[in-house]
Amino acid sequence: MDEALKGRIESEARLFERRSAACIEALKLVQHENGWVDDDSIREIATLLDMTPAEVDSVATFYNLICRKPTGRHIIRICSSVTCWMMGYEALVARLGVEPGQTTADGRFTLLQNQCLGACDHAPVLMIDDDLYCDVEPEHLDDILAKYE
Ligand code: FES
Repeated sequence: MDEALKGRIESEARLFERRSAACIEALKLVQHENGWVDDDSIREIATLLDMTPAEVDSVATFYNLICRKPTGRHIIRICSSVTCWMMGYEALVARLGVEPGQTTADGRFTLLQNQCLGACDHAPVLMIDDDLYCDVEPEHLDDILAKYE
């Protein structure tokens, strides 16, 4: 972790009475910088926030927007909850051509299953990085994916 990133985490920590309250933000900053959160970063965040590595790891593995393994350049989170399942989840996964947990051969996308993304009235729903896509039909996917290098 470089000094600039440590400084950004330190700035977040100063916003809270308890430094550990900045843990999720620290994990998000590391992930934004590196694409995922490795064990060394877990230890460094723990030191910066007066936590144990186990405490930081427990937050990282509970919070499903943090990745503890390397991913593709973009993460597709596809909703597999009941409404999206009924409205076309399987067809979307088939069109994507990878199973949940896998990364495309070109390293562009990692596909992850997600429970409800909170837009059930627009099922099926998926997110790519921070972008939410609703009412997704399989034939929309090529145009959507083309937005991400
Ligand atoms: Fe898919 Fe809620 S069931 S967004």
